[in-house]
Amino acid sequence: MIERKPPFGATRADARVALVTCGELPDLEPDDRLVIEPLADRGVRAEPAVWDDPRVDWAGYDLVVLRSPWDYVSRRPAFVEWAHRVPRLANPATVVAWNTEKTYLELLAAAGVPVVPTEWVHPGDSWGPPATGAYVVKPAISAGSLDTGRYDLADPGHRVLAAAHVARLQAADRLVMVQPYLTAVDSDGETAVLFIGGTFSHAIRKGPMLAGPDTAEAGLYRPEQITAREPSPAQLEVAGKALAAIPGGVDSLLYARVDLIPGPDGSPMLVELELTEPSLFLSRSAGAAERLADAIAARVLT
Ligand SMILES: Nc1ncnc2c1ncn2[C@@H]1O[C@H](COP(=O)(O)OP(=O)(O)O)[C@@H](O)[C@H]1O
Ligand SMILES: [Mg+2]
Repeated sequence: MIERKPPFGATRADARVALVTCGELPDLEPDDRLVIEPLADRGVRAEPAVWDDPRVDWAGYDLVVLRSPWDYVSRRPAFVEWAHRVPRLANPATVVAWNTEKTYLELLAAAGVPVVPTEWVHPGDSWGPPATGAYVVKPAISAGSLDTGRYDLADPGHRVLAAAHVARLQAADRLVMVQPYLTAVDSDGETAVLFIGGTFSHAIRKGPMLAGPDTAEAGLYRPEQITAREPSPAQLEVAGKALAAIPGGVDSLLYARVDLIPGPDGSPMLVELELTEPSLFLSRSAGAAERLADAIAARVLT
């Protein structure tokens, strides 16, 4: 057996980290598994753990890292309550509570971050579609592009479907977001800017996700088309501005992902700030898994 030695002054020989997932992905996503070996190289044993498995002793871990607990969307209060019960969670429970409903976009907009303009439709509100234009309807608590649809309101059929989509989400007691569809996503895609330990790590391009009206499909997420991408200076600037505006600051964050789509004038607009359970696309950037392992090890080997 090869003896693994931590490269830098570990004081704990038995450091253990949980990588949090959901019951449908008990062994994690392949991309998240990429951090396990680099962690072992640094003297940290990492293993998957399902967030709502009552058998898990969360206090037994030196750090509990959120990764793919994506089934929380229909049970957000229970998830946030669980997060507060975990002694050492990354990202922290206060961040999880703030970041799992997209109403945080309002705070970022007020701080001067360019955010996609959003109409918020509450469960009891009456709503009629705007006269024309392309719009997105989506829930404020969501993941994986589920329950999200694109409507061309010049099309009478789409007007009916958009209203039905809003009504369906309202009937499920969900806060609804209606946004102009940023058409640049069809050509430029969406850019996810990834930060590890507060420092820029890498970026990816995600292809457009919305072909048309929502089909209410079940699952954890819709399939994505991902490629590596160099972020532009303007994208890095907006990403930095978004992170600088979060309550509590960036110091507590193990990871962060800032999702941007070009607005009507071509400059980046914030679609989502993912501080809870973002895919980190570690396989898309040389050294990303090692950078994440370094950031985790720095927190547990002290
Ligand atoms: N205003 C918008 N314009 C264009 N595409 C959008 C818009 N809002 C969402 N989308 C598309 O829908 C996907 C999912 O929306 P998002 O807000 O990121 O929610 P989720 O939390 O489900 O990832 C995005 O990746 C993007 O492709
Ligand atoms: Mg998204």
